[in-house]
Amino acid sequence: MKHLIDPTDLSLEEIDEILTLAEDIIADPAAYSEVAKGKKLATLFYEPSTRTRLSFEAAMIDLGGSVIGFSSAQNSSASKGESVADTARIVEKYADIIAMRHPKEGAPLVAAMNVNIPVINAGDGGHLHPTQTLTDLLTIREEAGRLNHLTIGFCGDLKFGRTVHSLIKQLSRYSGIHFVLISPQELRVPDYIKDEILVKNHAEFEEVEDMETVLGKLDILYMTRVQRERFFNEADYIRLKDTYILTEEKLKLALKDLKILHPLPRVNEIAVEVDKDPRALYFKQAEYGKFVRMALMMKLLGLKKPETAPEGETTAC
Ligand code: NCD
Repeated sequence: MKHLIDPTDLSLEEIDEILTLAEDIIADPAAYSEVAKGKKLATLFYEPSTRTRLSFEAAMIDLGGSVIGFSSAQNSSASKGESVADTARIVEKYADIIAMRHPKEGAPLVAAMNVNIPVINAGDGGHLHPTQTLTDLLTIREEAGRLNHLTIGFCGDLKFGRTVHSLIKQLSRYSGIHFVLISPQELRVPDYIKDEILVKNHAEFEEVEDMETVLGKLDILYMTRVQRERFFNEADYIRLKDTYILTEEKLKLALKDLKILHPLPRVNEIAVEVDKDPRALYFKQAEYGKFVRMALMMKLLGLKKPETAPEGETTAC
C-alpha cells in the first residue's frame, strides 16, 4: 500500500510521473473524466482549509469519482473522543482513499498504519504538507521550466510553516538549489530542517532577516503568512505578523522573471496591488493544485487513462 505522508515517500521518478500526468490532464481533462468512476475519496479535515480540501474534492469529482468527509473536528466523532486510528478504520469501510489534515504532527501516519487504503497527508501540524509541495513543484516546473539550478527565497514564518518544511525537504533532493531563508530571528527554520535536511543533502543555504537585500537574486520568492494558530501567545503574533509586506515598490528590486509563490491564504504579507503583477503566480498555483491532486490520486489508486481507439477505427455495434 502506497501512502503519501512525507514528500520523500515518493521517488524523484514517481514525482516526475505525477507532474507529467498532471500536465497531461491539464491538456485534455475530458480524457480523465471517468477514470475514477465508482471510487470514493474521504476528506477527514480536523483543521480549517479552503484550497486543499476543495481542490481534493474537485479533483475526485473531475475524475468521475465521489467524495465523503468532514471539514472540522467538531463535525466528527473526534469531538466525542474517538481516536484517529479508530476513525480511519471505520472510514476504510466506506471509501477507497483518505486525505487527512490534522493539527497534530504524525496523525495521518497513524491513520496510514491502521488501514489498507492509501492515506494522503493534507497537512499535519507544523510538520509537512506534501500535496502542497507537489502543487509548488508543478507550478515551478511549468512557470520556471525546471526544478534544479534555482535560487529560491522562503520568506515569513519558516518556523511553523509546514509548506516551507515540506518544500525545502523536497527541493533539497534536486541539484543546484540555493536556499535563501528570510525570517525574523524568532521564526527561523527549525534546527532539524537545517541539520537533517539542508546540511545532510549538501544544499547551499543562507539565513537573512532583510528581504530587500536579497530580492534581486531570487528566481522564486515563496511568501508565507505568520501561522497564528501555532503561536503560544497572541502578543508575539501581533509583534511579528507584519514583518514582511511585499509591495510593488519593493518588487522594483526583483528580477523581471521572478516567480512569486504563496501557498495561501494570504493575510497582509503580499499587498493586493501585487496581484496584477505578471510575476504573481499564487492564484495560478492554487489552480495547479487540483490537477496535481488528480494525478496523485490516480497514481495511488492505480488508475490509468483509458486507451483511445486508434485513428480511423470505429467501434462495431
Ligand atoms: C497552507 C497550510 O494549510 O499549511 N495552506 C494551504 O494548504 N494552501 C498554508 C497556510 O495555512 O498558511
